[in-house]
Amino acid sequence: MKNGLSALINSHQLKDFNKPFVIHHGTDELKVLRELPFLRSLDAILESWPDLVQVHLPDLRDEASAIDVPASDARKYFEEGMGLLFNDVNRISPVLQEWVDQIKTDLGISKQSYGRSLVYVTPDGKGTAPHFDQNINFVLQIHGTKKWTLATNKSVMNPMDRHTMGLTVDPEMMSYLEKPMAETMPDETINFDLGPGSLLYVPRGVWHSTEAEGHAISLNFTFTAPAWMELFLGALRSRLVLSPEWRESALVADEMKFESLLNELIHDLPHWNARDILEATES
Ligand SMILES: [Fe+2]
Repeated sequence: MKNGLSALINSHQLKDFNKPFVIHHGTDELKVLRELPFLRSLDAILESWPDLVQVHLPDLRDEASAIDVPASDARKYFEEGMGLLFNDVNRISPVLQEWVDQIKTDLGISKQSYGRSLVYVTPDGKGTAPHFDQNINFVLQIHGTKKWTLATNKSVMNPMDRHTMGLTVDPEMMSYLEKPMAETMPDETINFDLGPGSLLYVPRGVWHSTEAEGHAISLNFTFTAPAWMELFLGALRSRLVLSPEWRESALVADEMKFESLLNELIHDLPHWNARDILEATES
């Protein structure tokens, strides 16, 4: 049984990382994931879950307003209409860990990327409020139906953080907005109905909200990949930390000293190249 990206998205080519798409798998496909014993029901996952469960509170219906509760209490919150999130499920499942590792390789993102799988259990009529994530996300619907509403994000490209519509924009993101942050879902939306076996690709930064029809269980593969700037900043730090002078506590009145360190770096930078940095980050 093959695993990884090609099994997940069949013959669909992930040529454009920014374009969402859905694939409805037949009943015989992806059985290795869809028939994982702990995904059979909410009870099954609660029985095998060794950790706290994240409960999304009804005020925001978003992870920006959540509490962590013991698995023994989670059902009570679910029955009161709150969505549950089981994070890093790959930790309890070697099968999921293999898939996470294989998809990460297949995507061609850095080995330093943080990959994980998550399970969302959502009560009838509930879901998440409009938001975007900084992650690359694949959603496999296991049980029930979930309606997804997606929209192009014209406010920001390649966000470094997630953002929930209507909340305060973090100061760093504020500095690189293309347009004021949208306060309502754009008129033009793309709608997908996910049933058992549907696989949705949600690109980084795309607005999305969800609503379950009937109790819904979905399995996500989520990847936070370092941006070029992060690979560069990592390499820069590795280089500067070798220097006792760069490690000196900064006496901020000594501008001359800082200037001379910068000059030294400017002379060093022409010798830098992408291959050396990538050999360090990807080996
Ligand atoms: Fe999301």
